Amino acid sequence: MSIVYLNGTFMPIEDAKISPLDRGFLFGDGIYEVIPSYDGKTVGLEPHMQRMFDGLAAIGIKSTRTLEEWKEIIQTLLAKNGNGNLGVYLQVSRGADVKRYHAYPENVEPTIFAMTTAIKAPVEADASKAKGFSVGTTQDMRWKRCQIKSTALLGNVMHFQEGYEGGNDEILLYNADNILTEASSSNAFIVKDGVVITPVLDNQILPGITRKLILDILEKDGSIPFEVRDITMEEVFNADEVWVTSSSKELAPVTTIDGKTVGNGSVGKVWEAAFKLYTAHKFEY
Ligand code: PDD
Repeated sequence: MSIVYLNGTFMPIEDAKISPLDRGFLFGDGIYEVIPSYDGKTVGLEPHMQRMFDGLAAIGIKSTRTLEEWKEIIQTLLAKNGNGNLGVYLQVSRGADVKRYHAYPENVEPTIFAMTTAIKAPVEADASKAKGFSVGTTQDMRWKRCQIKSTALLGNVMHFQEGYEGGNDEILLYNADNILTEASSSNAFIVKDGVVITPVLDNQILPGITRKLILDILEKDGSIPFEVRDITMEEVFNADEVWVTSSSKELAPVTTIDGKTVGNGSVGKVWEAAFKLYTAHKFEY
């Protein structure tokens, strides 16, 4: 039977339970390591642990175990699982909160989990016996598939936290070409000279349902013109109005960006007209 370590206790894997409110589950908000071991002897333990400490520091999770404590946990775990060819899997998440909210919670203990998994015995260093691998190639798309509403939200969470620490409710995001994409947990719109404009859907943007409903309602109503096109950050800063939209915030008017006033600094008239339409029609969807 596999013995695992969870939050200070060694136990059979069947007894290890983690809350569904754990941020590792909800947001992919955590760090992991896999350390190989052969007959109880680990390979690269200290560099693995250093990478884990670096990752934890990078995402602002306070380490609750020292290197010495981790070494003790790992050796005990290996012994309890019969040593052999074992990978030690370690995971630290930001912990189980009492609600789902992107910003890092205060006073939540990280969840600390470790288990072992069987790994292959090392192959012989003999070219006549070693099996060659075959590989394919593809463009690196990691963290670039924002159109998928994946729970791997660490990138979003870190951006939300960046905004939150700056005293903001949201943070607008732009790509390497200075083109507005969306916000950390919302879609974005601007208004210029009475025209509502929102970015084109592609792999950089979640196709928000609120965005979709707003565009459909505006199209059917016909009184407010709109465009779907690229928006430069310069246009964002010169916009008359900026909105962010999501299922939880509906259409939220933005009045300051990076401390600068949007338009004349008050909530805009186009927002009011569009939000009236949204409120009148949203239950038709
Ligand atoms: N967020 N873009 C991102 C990155 C989002 O996370 C969301 C929603 C949206 C708006 O999508 P919709 O209109 O379908 O809610 C856009 C939800 C509300 C969240 O993570 O809490």
